[in-house]
Amino acid sequence: MSKESKIYIAGHRGMVGSAIWRQLTEKGYTHLIGLTSRELDLKDQKAVAKFFETEKPDVVIDAAAKVGGILANNSYPYQFLMENMQIQNNLIDSSLKNDIEKFIFLGSSCIYPKLAPQPLKEEYLLTDSLEPTNEWYAVAKITGIKAVESIRKQFDKDYVSLMPTNLYGTHDNFDLNTSHVLPAMIRKFHEAKENDHAPVTLWGSGTPMREFLFVDDMAGSVIFALENKLPEHLYNVGTGVDLTIKDLAELIQKVTGHTGEILWDSEKPDGTPRKLMDVSKMHELGWKHKVELEDGITKTYHWFLDNINSFKQVKMS
Ligand SMILES: NC(=O)c1ccc[n+]([C@@H]2O[C@H](COP(=O)([O-])OP(=O)(O)OC[C@H]3O[C@@H](n4cnc5c(N)ncnc54)[C@H](OP(=O)(O)O)[C@@H]3O)[C@@H](O)[C@H]2O)c1
Repeated sequence: MSKESKIYIAGHRGMVGSAIWRQLTEKGYTHLIGLTSRELDLKDQKAVAKFFETEKPDVVIDAAAKVGGILANNSYPYQFLMENMQIQNNLIDSSLKNDIEKFIFLGSSCIYPKLAPQPLKEEYLLTDSLEPTNEWYAVAKITGIKAVESIRKQFDKDYVSLMPTNLYGTHDNFDLNTSHVLPAMIRKFHEAKENDHAPVTLWGSGTPMREFLFVDDMAGSVIFALENKLPEHLYNVGTGVDLTIKDLAELIQKVTGHTGEILWDSEKPDGTPRKLMDVSKMHELGWKHKVELEDGITKTYHWFLDNINSFKQVKMS
């Protein structure tokens, strides 16, 4: 790896991809490549193969995926399974065929069994049943992890999978139909504040425990994997600290300045009771997060306010 290496960031306009792009630029990497889904549809095998043959990147970072919360996963199971497999398969296979030495695949903590012991260790993969609300997305990601693992095993290449916990931050998705819990709460509390501090109704019981990582820390972990040869195929990336959804709601309420009531709609699903990553493997190698939750939520809220008229809308078909 050098600062002139040709680095292709698939999904460079997304929340994670754009953070990786920003940090690589700040660190002096000069040869970054990024294409929008309009310029290159990663579901199109032939187009991806042609792009790789023409561009021949040195390194590929796969931050492209169809991403969404419980509602989107439940409503579009086929797209979450198939499109994610198509995107990652085309990227991984083209990378192998073009002899690309370094590949970084991004998965998700939902790959682990619903009732796995906590905190989640990498070795718990495929030891029990998945959480049904997002199993389509999880199965797609698991096939990506296995593709990366098989390439390491068979071809001895520096391909690695990073499993982020729940991410949030600048360029997040604030569309309430498709967003994750943290940005959805920011929007709900903000809008309720603007509406004379009206009550905010949130999904579930508030008791599940979750972990959240600021997107710049996630980008930092990708650059760590880029600049170091990691000895194993799979690593969890998170803070190693969790809190209840209720505590998260109260923190976001404080940051946004909402003073009204919080109501819980227990008819809506809670999802997995607890999801905390064991990040000791990454810590042992020398990577650790830097941004604590309240600071990250404050930065995200400021970004939300600055971009309030242009929330990203994820189109579903
Ligand atoms: N957000 C989280 O909480 C979270 C948590 C764990 C793991 N992850 C993982 O992190 C990665 C990035 O997530 P994110 O939150 O940054 O997602 P995001 O903001 O929705 O960005 C996804 C990117 O993927 C690209 N993309 C989607 N379909 C494509 C296609 N058919 N062809 C080309 N590009 C396509 C989009 O490109 P265009 O903008 O050009 O359409 C977009 O830039 C994903 O692998 C995700 O599974 C995210």
